[in-house]
Amino acid sequence: MTEDDARSSAPSRRTIRSFVIRGGRATAAQQRALDDLWPRYGVEFNGQPLDLDQLFGRRAPRMLEIGFGAGEALLAFAEKHPELDCIGVEVHKPGVGHLLLGAYTAGLQNLRVICHDAVEVLQQQLPPGSLQLIHIFFPDPWHKKRHHKRRLIQPEFVELLAQSLAVGGTLRLATDWEHYAMHMREVIDASPSFANEAPDTGFVARNEERPVTRFERRGHRLGHGVWDLSYRRIAATPSA
Ligand SMILES: C[S@@+](CC[C@H](N)C(=O)[O-])C[C@H]1O[C@@H](n2cnc3c(N)ncnc32)[C@H](O)[C@@H]1O
Repeated sequence: MTEDDARSSAPSRRTIRSFVIRGGRATAAQQRALDDLWPRYGVEFNGQPLDLDQLFGRRAPRMLEIGFGAGEALLAFAEKHPELDCIGVEVHKPGVGHLLLGAYTAGLQNLRVICHDAVEVLQQQLPPGSLQLIHIFFPDPWHKKRHHKRRLIQPEFVELLAQSLAVGGTLRLATDWEHYAMHMREVIDASPSFANEAPDTGFVARNEERPVTRFERRGHRLGHGVWDLSYRRIAATPSA
């Protein structure tokens, strides 16, 4: 294989990352969970499309949470919806350890975890149209203007979300940073693959199923508001 062949067959490169790997070690309990429970719930990133029926041992509607942090929302959702298969993607290992502990304690059968960049997971591991629901709650807002390009919600990423969601599926987001809320609305409203479920105001009422996480509590303490968005995946119509 020539160098050019190798380059053209390589998965598309990603230069901007939406995260920095935070410091902070896993607690002893989280590390034990990472060691002992990863084989049960963890899915290695290998750049190959997953066989989700095989992974879960059944065929069921599937949801994905991107950047689940410590996993409070994902655990609550998976527990409340045993009829759905749930996949969490997060790069922060202590958070993954925390989720694994919670999944084990709750005896969850319908949860799997990938510890990797969600962009590459969407590009390479999740088959097109394989999801019914995607949650992205409180993604890093990257407050400074020069860092806005690091925000997860960008047109290219929204198209990756559209590719993984089945037509009729739902994308739910929340943020406590007003500028990011307006940015999310502008970017996703512009996608021909999504219809805003609150076309007039742009924002929906708080999703009752979403527990208040540590990040949201911190936002409340700082006096921030919270903006919830919900979109239906529609069949994109070719532009005129
Ligand atoms: C501000 S925290 C919010 C955590 C959680 N959703 C909550 O509401 O508490 C954002 C999380 O997204 C994760 N994250 C950011 N970019 C990511 C990416 N590209 N792939 C996976 N996780 C990512 C970060 O590690 C961080 O834990």
